[in-house]
Amino acid sequence: MLNVVVMVSGGGTNLQAIIDAVEAGTITNTRLAGVISNNKNAYALERAAKHGIPAACVSPKDFEDRGQFNQKLLETVDGFEPDLVVLAGFLVVIPPEMTAKYRNRMINIHPSLIPSFCGTGYYGLRVHEAALARGVKVAGATVHFVDEGTDTGPIILQKAVEARQGDTPKELQRRVMEQAEWKILPRAIDLIANGKVKVENGKTIIEEPTRSGQEASL
Ligand code: GAR
Repeated sequence: MLNVVVMVSGGGTNLQAIIDAVEAGTITNTRLAGVISNNKNAYALERAAKHGIPAACVSPKDFEDRGQFNQKLLETVDGFEPDLVVLAGFLVVIPPEMTAKYRNRMINIHPSLIPSFCGTGYYGLRVHEAALARGVKVAGATVHFVDEGTDTGPIILQKAVEARQGDTPKELQRRVMEQAEWKILPRAIDLIANGKVKVENGKTIIEEPTRSGQEASL
């Protein structure tokens, strides 16, 4: 059983997609051990409660400095003894000690096709605003392992989504979530839970020829 902790900051639709997939059996061999939010008002915390998943909130506002917050965050994550940490819309910089401790055991969902529209300052709606301002025809999402950089770790799955003429950032965001994020994030967890993802020389090797290969190359 893969023990998974999901970290969130807001609405938690990706968390919901993971919960639904575990309950439906499309993610196998996985137990949702806990949910951690940096924001007390995150609706994601209610989603966790509704499904009986233990949840904790660690807010930077409750600490005098970043060092103390980082320490408490890492202690809280460690407390759930996760095999995999999933950043599902967690909009706080991950402490370097945590990145080192959970190397190749921490994944993130990003709402663009990395390496486009990623890195510092690209999160949430801003990603879609930037993509539309550039006039892209294809948008999408990426699941990747977390390393020391921002959105620079090994890519696990990507999925392309059409950007339509006249899209608002919110419309594009919703389509990317529905058609890409809510599919590839649960899929990546299932692949990891079943031992099908390896990292070699900074790249992943996915041991499932058809479906994941297609997602990885789209
Ligand atoms: C998602 O679109 C996710 O890709 C994005 O935040 C949103 C969270 O939504 N993450 C980033 O931008 C990370 N750089 P949710 O709370 O409804 O899952």
